Amino acid sequence: MGNKMHKILTLNNISVTGLERLPRDSYEVASEIQHPDAILLRSFNMHDMEIPPSLQAVGRAGAGVNNIPVDKMSAQGIPVFNSPGANANAVKELVLAAMLMASRNICQGWDFARNLEGDDDSINKQTEAGKKNFGGFELPGRTLGVVGLGAIGRSVANAANALGMNVIGFDPGLTVEGAWQLSSDVQKAGSFDEMVPQVDYLTFHVPLIDATRNMVNAERLANMKDNVVLLNFARKGIVDDSAVSEAIKTDKVYAYVTDFPSNLLKNHERVITLPHLGASTTEAEDNCAIMVAEQIKDYLENGNIHNSVNFPEVRMPRTAGHRLAIVNSNVPNMLSQISTELAKGDLNILDMLNKSRGDLAYTLVDVDKEVPDTVVQGMSAIDGVLSVRLIG
Ligand code: MLT
Repeated sequence: MGNKMHKILTLNNISVTGLERLPRDSYEVASEIQHPDAILLRSFNMHDMEIPPSLQAVGRAGAGVNNIPVDKMSAQGIPVFNSPGANANAVKELVLAAMLMASRNICQGWDFARNLEGDDDSINKQTEAGKKNFGGFELPGRTLGVVGLGAIGRSVANAANALGMNVIGFDPGLTVEGAWQLSSDVQKAGSFDEMVPQVDYLTFHVPLIDATRNMVNAERLANMKDNVVLLNFARKGIVDDSAVSEAIKTDKVYAYVTDFPSNLLKNHERVITLPHLGASTTEAEDNCAIMVAEQIKDYLENGNIHNSVNFPEVRMPRTAGHRLAIVNSNVPNMLSQISTELAKGDLNILDMLNKSRGDLAYTLVDVDKEVPDTVVQGMSAIDGVLSVRLIG
């Protein structure tokens, strides 16, 4: 257990605080490395990358995994891990800031003030004369719609509720655990369309998938209240930017704050664009890196799986025995074939755990003796087995 040297390829800068969780005596971590066991990355686009045959795991220091070919990884029996919740506070803080920036015309006011010219007496006069152009409105009593009630959405919803806003949440996949962490004052909408006409502010905390693409479009904008404030700190594509830029002209949209700049948006008077800053804090970068490094370590050293986006949660305490990790298609009769191969190697099972998720199944098995190569080869040859890993 522990004396194998694991090779980790980093495709982005990963916080050193996180990398320190991978001890130097058993991990070689580099941005260029041959035959990596695992990849750690942030937003690097892996879609066009040649996947090294040695790869066993991918760790995304962050929430979104749209830069990773997850289906391709699943087909090769490779789990993809992320760090849900590790950047939630960072995103929540920026969403709160964005609501305030929009409501109080902070960016426009700042722009006005920094361009004032003349002596201080003149600046003072221009300030008092100009401020009427930047008057705003307050948050309490206004309604915020939160789409997606994962760690980030819940954090935003609870904070807005604490500021005195009415909060409506929508998430068809809300877990029981998630619901417990949500203030009981947060109303739950049965559908997005039910929420749309009620909100003064609307924020998204969902991944970009087919179901979330262009959630805000011209038709839905027409059903919104006038002067709605839209916030996109999730992913480009969830809001149809051209529909919003049209709706700003008619005062349907009061302001749009987005973390995803474009030529269309960048010089728009009532659009505030930020350079994908939602999770860009020291704390969030450290938290994400620590979480994902520990998950990768536990997978490489013990085969345990925590916070994977494509594999089931699996944790089996170590016995004194030798451990095998097997990934296979989730079809009948796999376990009996796996057991037959163990019996052929005269191996006795000490402990075993089998879990499935969608099309994939994952088995951890501890056996009493060192596993001969013939057993690994026999298992790998079973139709439907995607990977067999001898953990030691
Ligand atoms: C995330 O998905 O975690 C955020 O968008 C930040 C990032 O891309 O790292």
